[in-house]
Amino acid sequence: MNPRNVGEIPDADGVGKVGNPICGDMMTVYIKVKDNRLEDVKFKTFGCGAAIATSSMVTELAKGKTIEEALRITRTEVADSLGGLPPIKIHCSVLAVDGLSEAIYEYLSKNGLPIPEELDRRHKRLETELENIKKRYAEFAKLEEELLRE
Ligand code: FES
Repeated sequence: MNPRNVGEIPDADGVGKVGNPICGDMMTVYIKVKDNRLEDVKFKTFGCGAAIATSSMVTELAKGKTIEEALRITRTEVADSLGGLPPIKIHCSVLAVDGLSEAIYEYLSKNGLPIPEELDRRHKRLETELENIKKRYAEFAKLEEELLRE
């Protein structure tokens, strides 16, 4: 009902863009880093209510944390902080945590900082998922264009 930290950080130090392979929803997380701490975190989500709530919560949980602490935030922590999620909405909380980790990944790689092995693995998986979603959207868009022409 009251999402916090909605919006963009124009001069963000890291931006994470993720898509949910199950429903196709999209999320972008922006981070501002100072002295290894997340000074500011914002998000923009094109998705369901749970995706918006979990994005909001992950930004709240991550703000003020060090990079290492922020990477330890789990989907369970996000869901629990919201008072729980129905089982069918668990995948939405995965999206929020992935968005944050992708923003951190971009920050670390842009600045030539070491990337933890687990983060690198996660990044590769998310890249593939995002590509698949883009392809799916392209197919839908083509279909809609054809329908409009009829
Ligand atoms: Fe798509 Fe929730 S149903 S993120």
